[in-house]
Amino acid sequence: MITAVYPGSFDPITNGHLDIIKRSAKTFDKLIVAVLNNPNKTPMFDLEERVDLIRQSISDLNNVEIDCFSGLLIDYMQNKNVNVIIKGLRAISDFEYEFQMALMNRKLNKEIETLFMMTNSDYSYLSSSLVKEAFRFGGNIENLVPDIVIQKMKEKL
Ligand code: PNS
Repeated sequence: MITAVYPGSFDPITNGHLDIIKRSAKTFDKLIVAVLNNPNKTPMFDLEERVDLIRQSISDLNNVEIDCFSGLLIDYMQNKNVNVIIKGLRAISDFEYEFQMALMNRKLNKEIETLFMMTNSDYSYLSSSLVKEAFRFGGNIENLVPDIVIQKMKEKL
């Protein structure tokens, strides 16, 4: 049985994330979506809200678990006894950073593999930050994030 971890900030979850989650859930026996608790950042949604939005967006997937972590991803993976990291890759611009991070993670623990999944072309430009920016200035973000996210963002305004 192979379990993979899909880590991220998910502030908030987008349809691009959701696409990677669904495809990974089909590919692996189990997927853990691991939400980073980063005290150095001020997110739009706190940890509990981010987890809740993910939970509501993936209620139809029964082999996906949601969890939180802080500190190093590889330490979390080791504690969970999982050695596959799934990362979504959108464009060449993602590559350099992801490449660096994958190599750093491998340096820290050579047993853990990072696997990249190509984005669905519909979402290749999509990021949580752009969604938040568009929303703040009144842009239409329908079809870019789950409806529940739009609803919660409206409540935040
Ligand atoms: O959604 P994001 O913000 O692009 O996700 C980035 C994330 C959470 C995957 C990455 O920042 C991370 O793994 N942070 C934990 C600290 C860590 O292990 N860094 C890499 C080795 S120094």
